[in-house]
Amino acid sequence: MKTTNIFPLTFVAAKLLLLPSASTAFVSPSKQMFATTKHMKSMDSAPLAVSLSSDVSIESDTSAAISAAQKQKELEQFPRTKLAHLPTPLEYCPRLSEALNGVNIYIKRDDCTGLATGGNKARKLEWLMAEAVEQGAEYVMTQGATQSNHCRQTAAAAAKLGLKCHILLEERVKGDADYNENGNVMLDDLFGASREKRGPNLDMAAELEAVAEEYRKKGHNVYVIPGGGSNPTGALGYVNCAYELVQQIEEQGIPVDHICHATGSTGTQAGLVTGLKACCSTIPLLGYGVRFAKDIQEAKVFTLAKATAEKIGMPDCVDAEDVVVDSNYVGPGYGTPAESTIEAIRMFAELEGLLLDPVYSAKGAAGLIDYCRKGHFKPGENVVYLHTGGAVALHGYLHYFQK
Ligand SMILES: Cc1ncc(COP(=O)(O)O)c(C=O)c1O
Repeated sequence: MKTTNIFPLTFVAAKLLLLPSASTAFVSPSKQMFATTKHMKSMDSAPLAVSLSSDVSIESDTSAAISAAQKQKELEQFPRTKLAHLPTPLEYCPRLSEALNGVNIYIKRDDCTGLATGGNKARKLEWLMAEAVEQGAEYVMTQGATQSNHCRQTAAAAAKLGLKCHILLEERVKGDADYNENGNVMLDDLFGASREKRGPNLDMAAELEAVAEEYRKKGHNVYVIPGGGSNPTGALGYVNCAYELVQQIEEQGIPVDHICHATGSTGTQAGLVTGLKACCSTIPLLGYGVRFAKDIQEAKVFTLAKATAEKIGMPDCVDAEDVVVDSNYVGPGYGTPAESTIEAIRMFAELEGLLLDPVYSAKGAAGLIDYCRKGHFKPGENVVYLHTGGAVALHGYLHYFQK
């Protein structure tokens, strides 16, 4: 998209003039590359006007960032409760980048959203809990697998807002004592949530609705949050994240080639793709599936993305081909780590001091690692991996890490 109005051009000019030369103190590899391959050519040898009219990619990044800032304001029409520490940092990982064939790896630290040790659900819960409070809820109810990060963060958000929380935990994975009682489950109890168990292969949404109905019959006002907080209200958290990230990428001067992350209950990817398309960013987004086959997961994400786009008043902004999932890193199944999952956990920990989780963020990271090794992500390209959190679940998987 070519910008024609004067403000973006002024913005670009300011950036070009402020850009450090490659010889100044510390410049991250991507900034250096941006300077040398995209900006320096025009700074060294051509008048500014030439670079402004010829370098369309700079203008389009800039206009996406400006549009993202405007669109972020439009989200103020929806009720929101401040629960997350935002914006989360965007950090360059030099040792990981070196180990992955010189692909420049940046981590968007949504594991640092604050609430109950952080993770992606904090963003969704800002909008979901606001709706619960607005509706005068006494209880919030939700469901997830035994080691659900979503349930843990919902329990914490309810505690913070003085609401009662009741959760249904599905035995989706046959785990040992640590899996069943440690990690997220221990924290659910600590945050004061009540919980009940369900066996595998049930319709958990129906189970949850039935329990909510029982409580309502007893006179309680119940607000039901779907599994993973994945509905158009929760997905607003990731529309907002897309706007935040597009602006951050522009501020840091990183010409990002890919954004990728783990996708499960779909709200993260649906929100991100909607937000990216709504602000006309052209950065490709890829979700690494943790449970369902590629076509099933893509259809689920697209359905929610369409509903989310409608909610923000841009019903046609997402196309089916914008939703791309790779489910080759699921391994033995949901919640059971593959060798590549454990390798990713060890690699991120040993090279960058980062903690991934065995169910989501490490399966996504296994995909990232493999894409770098196979050359799908190329040396010198800039890749943002959205770290969605979940490390609390490591305590439920102790035996995988005992030496
Ligand atoms: C740590 C972590 N990462 C990623 C995801 C996937 O996000 P979504 O459910 O929005 O697809 C989840 C969902 O539960 C999660 O807990």
